[in-house]
Amino acid sequence: MQKVFINIGTLLQTREPGTKILRGALMADVPSLKNAWLKTNDGLIEDYGFMNDFVEDNAYEVVDLKGRMVSPTFVDSHTHLVFAADRDEEFVMKIKGMDYQSIAAAGGGIINSAKKLEGTSLEELLDGARQRLSEAIASGTGAIEIKSGYGLTMEAEIKMLQVIAQLKQEFAIPIKSTFLGAHAFPHADHDKYMKTLLQEMLPEVYSQQLANYIDCFCEEGYFSVDQMCHILEAGEKYELKPKVHVNQFNAIGGVEKAIEFGAVSVDHLEVLPESEMVLLKDSDTIPVALPGCSFFINIPFAPARKIIENGLPLVLASDFNPGSAPSFNMSLINSLATMKMKLLPEEAFNATTYNAAHALELESEVGSISKGKRANFIVSKPNRTLNSIAYNFGVDWIDSVYIRGEKF
Ligand code: NIG
Ligand code: FE
Repeated sequence: MQKVFINIGTLLQTREPGTKILRGALMADVPSLKNAWLKTNDGLIEDYGFMNDFVEDNAYEVVDLKGRMVSPTFVDSHTHLVFAADRDEEFVMKIKGMDYQSIAAAGGGIINSAKKLEGTSLEELLDGARQRLSEAIASGTGAIEIKSGYGLTMEAEIKMLQVIAQLKQEFAIPIKSTFLGAHAFPHADHDKYMKTLLQEMLPEVYSQQLANYIDCFCEEGYFSVDQMCHILEAGEKYELKPKVHVNQFNAIGGVEKAIEFGAVSVDHLEVLPESEMVLLKDSDTIPVALPGCSFFINIPFAPARKIIENGLPLVLASDFNPGSAPSFNMSLINSLATMKMKLLPEEAFNATTYNAAHALELESEVGSISKGKRANFIVSKPNRTLNSIAYNFGVDWIDSVYIRGEKF
């Protein structure tokens, strides 16, 4: 139960509880201790300090880390981890020259995932999701958000959310669920689908208490700003705060409205006009960039450097999904953010740990090495530094992952 990890070469991201999300220049600093110890008790971080001041105590099981680095686990605030099957056939279409929108127009995309999911049982979906979530945790993720949105019928959306509810039961990491019935229109009668979503799906999601947040893909060819407003308004009635997909391909006004509805975050932002940057700066809505998606479908990267230079906070997430971002690897997200968005390794790391916890309202539980937070942390292989996480792209720096103080 009680453990003390000693001889930690560098203990990354040590922060006093209660500090606010990091904005602008503050993102370039990652407080850490050299030559440290870390005590865990009952799954939580009890204390930490310098080896110089370490006092032995027989009540604690001692784990000697022999100079290795310890980091809090990553927080992945935006994923679509529940799906029926990969869309690697679309990957090949993309290699041959088709873009994301033309693949969707040819019957691929979100609708393709919905077709694959329709005939998949809850048990089968759960098996796949369980496997992926285990792999994501082994790759360093210690808190995650998971969306529905590949159902697009009452039955299938509820099935997806029930899978997420089951994952919450089975896994010891915090999981937040998001209702994304507004991911794509499943048929040409948009008014009819809006009615189903607002009058049937949402009340059912609420009565079964299956979601923490509500999402909408606000984009040309998907949901208009008006439609998003109807959805977020209905979400308010059911106590669901928004976290929305906006500005992936076009800026159509979704950011402003999302802020008005008190969105916890606005995600994607590959296209972000100056005027919307200003609105975000004056709000509590957190910008979330998804570099894995930009990399995979070859679209512009969100202007993350500019976001930070304008004094805003930034969060980075994987967007893990079978169509536009088939990787949950948060170390790779750190690499892409440094190489493609010109973030410093410290900025990318803060955006995937400390700040990312705020995008899931989990800042009192995860995201840093702080007294009272969950003992969810990563032990590195020998001779790794904070820079190695991003610098050695695609190379595994992780020796082991601890969840609630236990080796995962
Ligand atoms: O965040 N942009 C909308 N939704 C997902 C992609 C979904 C898919 O292609 O399956 C995203 O990129
Ligand atoms: Fe997404």
